[in-house]
Amino acid sequence: MNIIVRENYYEMSKHAAGMIAELIRSKPDCVIGFATGGTPIGTYKELIRMHKEEGLDFSEVKTFNLDEYLGVGIDLSKPYNLDQSYARFMHEELFKHINVRKENIHIPDGLTKDPEEYCKLYEDEIKKAGGIDLQILGIGGDGHWAFNEPGSSFTSRTRVEALAQQTLDDNYEAFYKKAGISREQMPRYAITMGIATILEARTIIMLANGSKKADIVAKALKGPVTTDVTASAIQLYKGKATVILDKEAAAKL
Ligand code: F6R
Repeated sequence: MNIIVRENYYEMSKHAAGMIAELIRSKPDCVIGFATGGTPIGTYKELIRMHKEEGLDFSEVKTFNLDEYLGVGIDLSKPYNLDQSYARFMHEELFKHINVRKENIHIPDGLTKDPEEYCKLYEDEIKKAGGIDLQILGIGGDGHWAFNEPGSSFTSRTRVEALAQQTLDDNYEAFYKKAGISREQMPRYAITMGIATILEARTIIMLANGSKKADIVAKALKGPVTTDVTASAIQLYKGKATVILDKEAAAKL
């Protein structure tokens, strides 16, 4: 695992975007796994800049997102801060600004009528696309990757997962409080890629920034490999893993 520490969030984001751009340039029809949350927003901003100023071309790129809230769908008639879906997040923070084709975008369908069957289909879609070349990952305050909450098996695949209390608290503070959405109205379940699904990606980039992540980053990268911290699965990963941190997130390594 290659751990890269950058001075600040902007430099961390620029480094990650540079690696993604390099893949797109060398394999224009690559398959990229995207994450949502606060961490990758700077990376997406830099990708948008590269698209607009340097002509970075997403026209053949296929995308698969890690997760989506169950029971939640994109609703463009609502203002962005009241649409809780990850589909909306990706639309606003990246997809609407670049030339990725709609039919190449895959985000779990939070409104599916048959989640169990749907999760199998999502796995099939990834296989049909030839597998994920590069998976972008954040890390949750409880050490989760995607929504693989503590206790999730390392052999888990795409499925419905109940959100842990810490994730609900983190999400409330980061997004819902500002939007005036109460804790009761927050989604409590999500469709998430499993740890085994993630470990099959050919390369991964994990990002973390800020002092709030320092303890959990140290646990995941240097602590015991345990399903209590599902991101510690990175230590079992067989492909090329790059961890890009800002100084604050790297402070406890
Ligand atoms: C999002 C996801 C989550 C986040 C994690 C960190 O698609 O899968 O695992 O990466 O919760 O979230 P932020 O970046 O908001 O700290």
